[in-house]
Amino acid sequence: MAPKLILTGFMATGKSVVARALARRLRWPIVDIDSIIVARAGKSIPEIFKEHGEAHFRALEREVTAEIARDPRRCPQCGEPRPAVISTGGGVLADPRNHAALARAGVIVCLNARPEVIARRIGTAATERPMLVRGGKPLDERIAELIEERREAYARAAVTVDTSDLTVEEVVNAILARVAAYRSKAWAASA
Ligand code: S3P
Repeated sequence: MAPKLILTGFMATGKSVVARALARRLRWPIVDIDSIIVARAGKSIPEIFKEHGEAHFRALEREVTAEIARDPRRCPQCGEPRPAVISTGGGVLADPRNHAALARAGVIVCLNARPEVIARRIGTAATERPMLVRGGKPLDERIAELIEERREAYARAAVTVDTSDLTVEEVVNAILARVAAYRSKAWAASA
């Protein structure tokens, strides 16, 4: 089975910090799609949105996601595809093409959190997130609206963990337990 673990979910649900902890626990490399986009564009995400618009950012995101998901490298010892923890931006799953590419690469894990927890974690840093400042709506209203828009997309993940009341370590434990259960179910279904 494709070995990668893909961490996705709404902004401020803990993807980056959990991805780092998960990669450390598994001793796997970590790949951050937004960091690759920023390095490739030579601009921050707010700059990409401001200068070129959301459609351009989504095109870059799709391109990088497809490349990372395709990763043709194999383990030199066992010949299996190489494992990695892949961290994505919060909007990746909204495009079914990204979902399809990532689902082929491994198990998609969606982190979520209660809207008020997300608003608290974002605090005054909303300006770094162009999707939240759009329309000039109050932060909590915009968060609720965007979560609702993406509900179906997030529901397509194989595994979901609510991080609202968990420590990073507890989230990592929950992910590993649920991914193991998901994999054994998928394995039994294909046997
Ligand atoms: C986005 C989330 C951001 C970043 C971009 C768009 C979104 O990543 O990819 O601002 O559409 O939800 P984080 O979820 O890591 O903040």
